[in-house]
Amino acid sequence: MSASGRAALISFEGGEASGKTLQARRLAASLRERGVDVEIVREPGGTRAGELMREIFLHAKDAAMSAETLALLVTASRAQLVREVIRPALARGAVVIADRFFDSTLAYQGYAGGADLDGLRALQRFAVGDTVPDRTFLLDVAVEVIARRRSADGERRWDRFEAAGREFHERLREGYLRLAAAEPRRFAVIDGDRPIDAVAEDIARLTRDLLGIRSR
Ligand code: TMP
Repeated sequence: MSASGRAALISFEGGEASGKTLQARRLAASLRERGVDVEIVREPGGTRAGELMREIFLHAKDAAMSAETLALLVTASRAQLVREVIRPALARGAVVIADRFFDSTLAYQGYAGGADLDGLRALQRFAVGDTVPDRTFLLDVAVEVIARRRSADGERRWDRFEAAGREFHERLREGYLRLAAAEPRRFAVIDGDRPIDAVAEDIARLTRDLLGIRSR
């Protein structure tokens, strides 16, 4: 059982260099400090099969893959992750923190990549069933800020998405904001262009509210 006694699924979403991975880890660490049982997962990946799919997904630069192909691949990884890791963790009362979940597919392959959104939504229902996040933190960062962060990053990782160009990233951001506007109870849009500690504090506070943990 988690200290709060409340199992929950919390997802982190955002574009490249939005800081979501760092923030997901910070939240996991702060909850664990309070004795909460936390399971952190990343997508695509998180299971043996999922990591194999991640390899294809991220590094097959020489293999042409349509947005539809990518959506099927990453959603297959997700279906496995839900059954192998997320549901068992929720069943034992853990808080599951997902570094990306199905909104990534809607935003990247749908809004930015042009795959049919209704089809993608149906695919997500098939893959995850009722395993839907209780709360989704969208780390929103303007595309100029991403460009600045990237050029400051010595170890740039140019996978197919990061090299996709400005318009792709504009559509991605717009798509995420639309998803958030359509489900304001699930989403919290967090301004990611602030100091790491300020962002972390907002996320920690909203999570304490969700889990019914009193602040110290
Ligand atoms: P990340 O390490 O930034 O989370 O990178 C994962 C990459 O995979 C990122 O470029 C976004 C992409 N992605 C999709 O395009 N669709 C998805 O459904 C997921 C989970 C990730």
